[in-house]
Amino acid sequence: MPNQSTFEDMEFKGWTDPKIARGYADGFATATRLTARHLAAAVVAGPDTHILDLCTGHGIVAAELLAARASVVALDFSEAMLALAKETAPSATFVQGNALEMTFADQSFDAVTVGFGVPHFPDPARGFAEIARVLRPGGRLAFSIWCGQGSAGALGWLFEAYGRLADTSIKLPDGPDAHQFTDHGLVRETLTTAGFEDITSQDVPSELLVKSPSDIFDVFDKGAVRAAVLLSGQSEDTRGAIRASLAERVQMLGRHEADGYHVQAPCVMVSATRC
Ligand SMILES: C[S@@+](CC[C@H](N)C(=O)[O-])C[C@H]1O[C@@H](n2cnc3c(N)ncnc32)[C@H](O)[C@@H]1O
Repeated sequence: MPNQSTFEDMEFKGWTDPKIARGYADGFATATRLTARHLAAAVVAGPDTHILDLCTGHGIVAAELLAARASVVALDFSEAMLALAKETAPSATFVQGNALEMTFADQSFDAVTVGFGVPHFPDPARGFAEIARVLRPGGRLAFSIWCGQGSAGALGWLFEAYGRLADTSIKLPDGPDAHQFTDHGLVRETLTTAGFEDITSQDVPSELLVKSPSDIFDVFDKGAVRAAVLLSGQSEDTRGAIRASLAERVQMLGRHEADGYHVQAPCVMVSATRC
Protein backbone atom coordinates (compact mmCIF):
# COMPACT_ATOMS: atom_id res chain seq x y z
CA MET A 1 0.00 0.00 0.00
CA PRO A 2 1.43 3.44 -0.88
CA ASN A 3 2.33 6.03 1.79
CA GLN A 4 -0.77 7.62 3.22
CA SER A 5 -0.92 11.35 3.91
CA THR A 6 -3.68 11.47 6.54
CA PHE A 7 -5.60 8.99 8.65
CA GLU A 8 -8.78 9.72 6.67
CA ASP A 9 -6.96 9.17 3.41
CA MET A 10 -5.50 5.87 4.63
CA GLU A 11 -8.90 4.59 5.77
CA PHE A 12 -10.64 5.60 2.55
CA LYS A 13 -7.94 4.14 0.28
CA GLY A 14 -7.90 0.92 2.28
CA TRP A 15 -11.61 0.20 2.47
CA THR A 16 -12.31 1.19 -1.13
CA ASP A 17 -9.75 -1.38 -2.35
CA PRO A 18 -11.86 -4.35 -3.57
CA LYS A 19 -9.16 -6.81 -2.41
CA ILE A 20 -9.27 -5.46 1.18
CA ALA A 21 -13.09 -5.42 1.10
CA ARG A 22 -13.17 -9.09 0.03
CA GLY A 23 -10.36 -9.98 2.45
CA TYR A 24 -12.29 -8.45 5.38
CA ALA A 25 -15.59 -10.07 4.42
CA ASP A 26 -13.97 -13.52 4.16
CA GLY A 27 -11.34 -13.25 6.90
CA PHE A 28 -13.63 -11.82 9.58
CA ALA A 29 -16.82 -13.65 8.48
CA THR A 30 -17.31 -15.80 11.58
CA ALA A 31 -16.56 -13.04 14.09
CA THR A 32 -18.71 -10.42 12.39
CA ARG A 33 -21.66 -12.81 12.07
CA LEU A 34 -21.55 -13.62 15.79
CA THR A 35 -21.36 -9.95 16.74
CA ALA A 36 -24.07 -8.84 14.31
CA ARG A 37 -26.63 -10.91 16.25
CA HIS A 38 -25.78 -9.05 19.46
CA LEU A 39 -26.09 -5.67 17.75
CA ALA A 40 -29.51 -6.49 16.28
CA ALA A 41 -30.73 -7.68 19.69
CA ALA A 42 -29.34 -4.60 21.47
CA VAL A 43 -31.31 -2.18 19.29
CA VAL A 44 -34.43 -4.40 19.57
CA ALA A 45 -34.75 -4.68 15.79
CA GLY A 46 -38.29 -5.61 14.75
CA PRO A 47 -41.01 -5.06 12.16
CA ASP A 48 -41.78 -1.49 13.20
CA THR A 49 -38.20 -0.24 13.40
CA HIS A 50 -36.40 1.90 10.85
CA ILE A 51 -32.69 1.30 11.39
CA LEU A 52 -29.50 2.81 9.99
CA ASP A 53 -26.61 0.36 9.70
CA LEU A 54 -23.61 2.64 9.58
CA CYS A 55 -20.29 1.45 8.10
CA THR A 56 -22.27 -1.51 6.82
CA GLY A 57 -19.25 -3.08 5.11
CA HIS A 58 -20.19 -6.48 3.68
CA GLY A 59 -23.71 -6.04 5.13
CA ILE A 60 -23.61 -8.66 7.84
CA VAL A 61 -25.33 -6.48 10.48
CA ALA A 62 -27.85 -5.22 7.90
CA ALA A 63 -28.73 -8.87 7.15
CA GLU A 64 -29.41 -9.56 10.85
CA LEU A 65 -31.63 -6.47 11.08
CA LEU A 66 -33.55 -7.53 7.98
CA ALA A 67 -33.98 -11.02 9.44
CA ALA A 68 -35.74 -9.33 12.37
CA ARG A 69 -37.98 -7.64 9.73
CA ALA A 70 -36.70 -4.11 10.38
CA SER A 71 -36.52 -1.65 7.51
CA VAL A 72 -32.84 -0.96 6.95
CA VAL A 73 -30.75 1.79 5.42
CA ALA A 74 -27.14 0.66 4.99
CA LEU A 75 -24.42 3.32 4.59
CA ASP A 76 -20.75 2.98 3.74
CA PHE A 77 -18.22 5.14 1.90
CA SER A 78 -16.77 2.17 0.03
CA GLU A 79 -18.39 1.12 -3.27
CA ALA A 80 -16.46 -2.16 -3.04
CA MET A 81 -18.04 -2.89 0.36
CA LEU A 82 -21.50 -1.83 -0.78
CA ALA A 83 -21.23 -4.28 -3.71
CA LEU A 84 -20.70 -7.10 -1.17
CA ALA A 85 -23.47 -5.80 1.11
CA LYS A 86 -25.95 -5.88 -1.79
CA GLU A 87 -25.37 -9.64 -2.00
CA THR A 88 -25.66 -10.19 1.79
CA ALA A 89 -28.62 -7.91 2.52
CA PRO A 90 -30.38 -7.34 -0.83
CA SER A 91 -33.52 -5.73 0.56
CA ALA A 92 -31.75 -2.93 2.45
CA THR A 93 -31.62 0.58 0.99
CA PHE A 94 -28.00 1.43 0.20
CA VAL A 95 -26.36 4.82 0.54
CA GLN A 96 -22.78 5.65 -0.33
CA GLY A 97 -21.61 8.36 2.05
CA ASN A 98 -19.45 9.50 4.91
CA ALA A 99 -20.67 8.55 8.40
CA LEU A 100 -19.36 11.86 9.72
CA GLU A 101 -21.33 13.99 7.25
CA MET A 102 -24.65 12.26 6.66
CA THR A 103 -27.34 13.79 4.47
CA PHE A 104 -30.27 12.29 6.44
CA ALA A 105 -32.68 14.67 8.17
CA ASP A 106 -32.56 15.03 11.98
CA GLN A 107 -34.34 12.22 13.91
CA SER A 108 -34.71 9.98 10.82
CA PHE A 109 -34.10 6.63 12.56
CA ASP A 110 -35.33 4.52 15.48
CA ALA A 111 -31.92 2.93 15.90
CA VAL A 112 -28.34 2.98 14.59
CA THR A 113 -25.94 0.01 14.50
CA VAL A 114 -22.21 0.31 13.78
CA GLY A 115 -20.41 -3.04 13.49
CA PHE A 116 -16.66 -2.38 13.92
CA GLY A 117 -16.93 1.02 12.21
CA VAL A 118 -16.32 3.48 15.07
CA PRO A 119 -12.53 2.77 15.22
CA HIS A 120 -12.28 4.08 11.66
CA PHE A 121 -13.79 7.49 12.42
CA PRO A 122 -11.03 10.14 12.25
CA ASP A 123 -13.03 12.16 14.80
CA PRO A 124 -15.17 9.83 16.96
CA ALA A 125 -16.84 12.68 18.89
CA ARG A 126 -18.07 14.12 15.60
CA GLY A 127 -19.25 10.66 14.51
CA PHE A 128 -21.28 10.20 17.70
CA ALA A 129 -22.76 13.70 17.36
CA GLU A 130 -23.89 12.83 13.81
CA ILE A 131 -25.44 9.57 15.04
CA ALA A 132 -27.24 11.45 17.83
CA ARG A 133 -28.55 13.95 15.26
CA VAL A 134 -30.14 11.30 13.01
CA LEU A 135 -31.64 9.29 15.92
CA ARG A 136 -35.05 10.11 17.32
CA PRO A 137 -35.23 10.78 21.10
CA GLY A 138 -35.36 7.40 22.82
CA GLY A 139 -33.68 5.76 19.79
CA ARG A 140 -31.03 3.09 20.38
CA LEU A 141 -27.37 2.96 19.36
CA ALA A 142 -25.29 -0.22 19.43
CA PHE A 143 -21.73 -0.58 18.19
CA SER A 144 -18.92 -3.12 18.44
CA ILE A 145 -15.15 -2.72 18.77
CA TRP A 146 -12.35 -5.27 18.91
CA CYS A 147 -10.32 -5.73 22.09
CA GLY A 148 -6.70 -4.86 21.26
CA GLN A 149 -3.35 -4.85 23.02
CA GLY A 150 -3.18 -7.28 25.92
CA SER A 151 -6.43 -9.05 25.03
CA ALA A 152 -6.60 -12.84 25.04
CA GLY A 153 -7.08 -13.57 21.34
CA ALA A 154 -5.98 -12.90 17.80
CA LEU A 155 -5.59 -9.12 18.08
CA GLY A 156 -3.72 -9.35 21.36
CA TRP A 157 -1.35 -11.87 19.78
CA LEU A 158 -0.81 -9.62 16.77
CA PHE A 159 0.07 -6.64 18.99
CA GLU A 160 2.47 -8.80 20.99
CA ALA A 161 4.24 -10.28 17.94
CA TYR A 162 4.39 -6.91 16.18
CA GLY A 163 5.87 -5.15 19.22
CA ARG A 164 8.52 -7.86 19.66
CA LEU A 165 9.46 -8.56 16.04
CA ALA A 166 8.54 -5.65 13.78
CA ASP A 167 10.35 -2.53 12.64
CA THR A 168 8.34 -0.09 14.72
CA SER A 169 9.81 2.95 12.93
CA ILE A 170 7.03 2.33 10.38
CA LYS A 171 4.23 4.62 11.55
CA LEU A 172 0.59 5.15 10.74
CA PRO A 173 -0.72 8.67 10.15
CA ASP A 174 -1.95 10.27 13.40
CA GLY A 175 -5.43 9.04 14.29
CA PRO A 176 -7.54 7.86 17.19
CA ASP A 177 -6.70 4.68 19.11
CA ALA A 178 -8.72 1.88 17.48
CA HIS A 179 -9.50 0.22 20.81
CA GLN A 180 -10.08 3.25 23.07
CA PHE A 181 -13.81 2.67 23.50
CA THR A 182 -13.27 -0.71 25.15
CA ASP A 183 -12.71 1.58 28.18
CA HIS A 184 -16.17 1.98 29.67
CA GLY A 185 -15.32 5.22 31.50
CA LEU A 186 -14.21 6.88 28.27
CA VAL A 187 -17.15 5.63 26.23
CA ARG A 188 -19.62 6.76 28.90
CA GLU A 189 -18.09 10.24 29.00
CA THR A 190 -17.94 10.55 25.19
CA LEU A 191 -21.49 9.31 24.60
CA THR A 192 -22.93 11.42 27.41
CA THR A 193 -21.38 14.50 25.78
CA ALA A 194 -22.92 13.48 22.44
CA GLY A 195 -26.42 13.28 24.00
CA PHE A 196 -26.83 9.63 25.06
CA GLU A 197 -27.89 7.99 28.33
CA ASP A 198 -28.34 4.44 29.62
CA ILE A 199 -24.83 3.54 28.36
CA THR A 200 -23.68 -0.06 28.80
CA SER A 201 -20.64 -2.06 27.66
CA GLN A 202 -20.71 -5.81 27.32
CA ASP A 203 -17.97 -8.33 26.41
CA VAL A 204 -18.85 -10.38 23.33
CA PRO A 205 -16.88 -13.63 22.92
CA SER A 206 -16.48 -13.75 19.14
CA GLU A 207 -14.00 -15.83 17.15
CA LEU A 208 -12.20 -16.03 13.81
CA LEU A 209 -12.05 -19.20 11.73
CA VAL A 210 -8.95 -20.08 9.67
CA LYS A 211 -8.16 -23.17 7.62
CA SER A 212 -4.57 -23.44 8.80
CA PRO A 213 -2.69 -21.73 11.69
CA SER A 214 -0.54 -19.56 9.42
CA ASP A 215 -3.64 -18.13 7.68
CA ILE A 216 -4.31 -15.91 10.69
CA PHE A 217 -1.55 -13.57 9.43
CA ASP A 218 -3.42 -13.15 6.12
CA VAL A 219 -6.64 -12.17 7.91
CA PHE A 220 -4.86 -9.00 9.10
CA ASP A 221 -2.54 -8.55 6.12
CA LYS A 222 -5.29 -8.85 3.50
CA GLY A 223 -8.48 -7.83 5.29
CA ALA A 224 -7.69 -4.83 7.49
CA VAL A 225 -6.44 -1.31 6.94
CA ARG A 226 -4.16 -0.17 9.78
CA ALA A 227 -2.65 -3.65 10.27
CA ALA A 228 -2.16 -4.12 6.52
CA VAL A 229 -0.30 -0.81 6.22
CA LEU A 230 2.00 -1.71 9.13
CA LEU A 231 2.61 -5.29 7.97
CA SER A 232 3.16 -4.39 4.32
CA GLY A 233 6.01 -2.08 5.37
CA GLN A 234 7.95 -4.91 7.03
CA SER A 235 10.70 -6.97 5.38
CA GLU A 236 9.86 -10.46 4.12
CA ASP A 237 11.89 -11.97 7.00
CA THR A 238 9.96 -9.95 9.59
CA ARG A 239 6.62 -10.78 8.00
CA GLY A 240 7.63 -14.46 8.09
CA ALA A 241 8.57 -14.21 11.78
CA ILE A 242 5.26 -12.53 12.71
CA ARG A 243 3.36 -15.13 10.67
CA ALA A 244 5.21 -17.96 12.47
CA SER A 245 4.56 -16.44 15.90
CA LEU A 246 0.83 -16.08 15.23
CA ALA A 247 0.64 -19.59 13.77
CA GLU A 248 2.24 -21.01 16.91
CA ARG A 249 -0.40 -19.31 19.09
CA VAL A 250 -3.22 -20.64 16.89
CA GLN A 251 -1.75 -24.12 17.02
CA MET A 252 -1.47 -23.95 20.83
CA LEU A 253 -4.58 -21.98 21.77
CA GLY A 254 -7.01 -22.34 18.84
CA ARG A 255 -9.81 -24.89 18.89
CA HIS A 256 -9.28 -27.34 16.04
CA GLU A 257 -12.50 -28.63 14.49
CA ALA A 258 -13.43 -30.20 11.15
CA ASP A 259 -13.88 -26.78 9.50
CA GLY A 260 -10.53 -25.35 10.70
CA TYR A 261 -9.06 -23.49 13.68
CA HIS A 262 -11.40 -21.38 15.78
CA VAL A 263 -9.52 -18.49 17.34
CA GLN A 264 -10.81 -16.10 20.00
CA ALA A 265 -11.28 -12.50 18.85
CA PRO A 266 -13.02 -10.85 21.81
CA CYS A 267 -14.83 -7.60 21.35
CA VAL A 268 -16.95 -5.17 23.32
CA MET A 269 -20.46 -4.09 22.39
CA VAL A 270 -21.61 -0.68 23.60
CA SER A 271 -25.25 0.29 23.62
CA ALA A 272 -26.93 3.56 24.54
CA THR A 273 -30.19 5.49 24.24
CA ARG A 274 -30.59 8.93 22.63
CA CYS A 275 -31.74 11.40 25.32
C1 LIG B 1 -14.35 -3.09 9.74
S1 LIG B 1 -15.53 -2.79 8.50
C2 LIG B 1 -17.04 -3.22 9.31
C3 LIG B 1 -18.05 -3.93 8.44
C4 LIG B 1 -19.31 -4.45 9.14
N1 LIG B 1 -20.13 -3.37 9.66
C5 LIG B 1 -19.04 -5.44 10.23
O1 LIG B 1 -19.76 -5.44 11.25
O2 LIG B 1 -18.13 -6.26 10.09
C6 LIG B 1 -15.58 -1.02 8.56
C7 LIG B 1 -16.43 -0.42 7.47
O3 LIG B 1 -16.58 0.98 7.75
C8 LIG B 1 -16.50 1.70 6.54
N2 LIG B 1 -16.12 3.07 6.90
C9 LIG B 1 -15.01 3.47 7.56
N3 LIG B 1 -15.04 4.79 7.78
C10 LIG B 1 -16.19 5.26 7.23
C11 LIG B 1 -16.79 6.54 7.13
N4 LIG B 1 -16.18 7.63 7.63
N5 LIG B 1 -17.97 6.64 6.51
C12 LIG B 1 -18.58 5.55 5.99
N6 LIG B 1 -18.06 4.31 6.04
C13 LIG B 1 -16.88 4.16 6.66
C14 LIG B 1 -15.50 0.94 5.69
O4 LIG B 1 -15.66 1.18 4.32
C15 LIG B 1 -15.82 -0.51 6.07
O5 LIG B 1 -16.77 -1.05 5.19
